[in-house]
Amino acid sequence: MFLLPLPSERTSLNAHLRSAGAPDALRHLILDISRAAKYISYAIKTTETGLSGGTNQSGEKQLQLDVLSDTIVSHYLAESGLVASYASEEAEELIIFSDNAPYTVVFDPLDGSSLVEANFAIGSIFGIYEGLDCLGKTPREQVAALYVIYGPRTLLVYSCGKGVHSFILNDVGEFILYQEYHGIADTAKNYSPGNLRALADNPAYDSVLHDWLKRELTLRYSGCMVADIHHIIAKGQGIFTNVGGSKYPQGKLRLVFECGPFAYLVEQAGGASSNGNVSILDVPIENIHQRTPVIIGSAHEVAAVTKALR
Ligand code: F6P
Ligand code: MN
Repeated sequence: MFLLPLPSERTSLNAHLRSAGAPDALRHLILDISRAAKYISYAIKTTETGLSGGTNQSGEKQLQLDVLSDTIVSHYLAESGLVASYASEEAEELIIFSDNAPYTVVFDPLDGSSLVEANFAIGSIFGIYEGLDCLGKTPREQVAALYVIYGPRTLLVYSCGKGVHSFILNDVGEFILYQEYHGIADTAKNYSPGNLRALADNPAYDSVLHDWLKRELTLRYSGCMVADIHHIIAKGQGIFTNVGGSKYPQGKLRLVFECGPFAYLVEQAGGASSNGNVSILDVPIENIHQRTPVIIGSAHEVAAVTKALR
C-alpha cells in the first residue's frame, strides 16, 4: 500500500512555480535554494550548537549553525550556475560568481539563530534580483522573495509576484503545497514590537506601545523576524515594528537581507511596509549591510504607527 499521497494528488513546489509562470531560470534557482533549505533544516536538527568564536559583519557572535547555513546556501547558489553574485548577512562584501548569469541573490542564512538553543522557530530569508548586483536598486526590483521557517514544521513561503504560497517539507524531502494566503487585513489584532530597548529614549515608540496595550491587542513576539512575520502572513493580520533608539539608531534589522524580502512578501499579500517615510520597497540600497527602521503588516496600523512615530 502507498501511504503517501500519490504525486498526482499534491502540488510540488516545482509544479507550482511552473503554474505561477516563473521563468525557467527563476524556477530552477528557487528549487536550488529549496535544496539548501533542506540541508539547513537537517543541520538544525542534528548539529551541536555553540559559539564558533567568530563575529559577523554586524558585530554579532556567530553560531556554528550560522556559518554552516551560509556555506550550504553558497554551495547551492554556485552549483545552480544562475547566480552572478550574492550578498549574505554573514559576509562583508558582495560575492561575485560570474558576469554571465541572470540573478543576484541576497540572504540571511539563519535568522534568529541565537534562539536555537531555546528550540524556538528560526528561519532563512532570500531576495532575488535580476542582474549583476543589488546596489543602487530598491527592494521593489526583487523578482521573487522567499523564506523558510524551521519550526515544528519546516515551511517554505515564496512569492514571484502572483500571491504568497507556502509549502511543507514532507518526510521524503519534497516541498508540497500547504497554503495559499488570501491577504492581510487592514486592521491588526496582534502586535510584535522589536527593539523595545528604544523605549528608553524614543517617547513616540513608547506611546505606540502603550496605545497597543490600552487597545488590548494581543502580543505575539518571538524574537525571530521570520517567525514573527510568518505569524502575520499565516493569521492574515498583525503589526511588526523594529525602530530606532540610541543603541540602534536605525533599528536592528537590515534592509537588504531582512526588511526588503519581507516587504515584498507582505505587500504581495495585501499588507504594507514603511521605513517611517516611504515603503521599504522604495528605500535605495546604498550599502548591503545598511539597517532600516521597519513598520510592517496590516495597512491601517502601519499608517497609524508611521504617523505616530513622525
Ligand atoms: O536578525 C536579528 C533578529 O534576531 C531578528 O530575527 C529579530 O526580529 C530581531 O533580531 C530581534 O530584535 P530585538 O532584540 O530588538 O527584539
Ligand atoms: Mn537576521
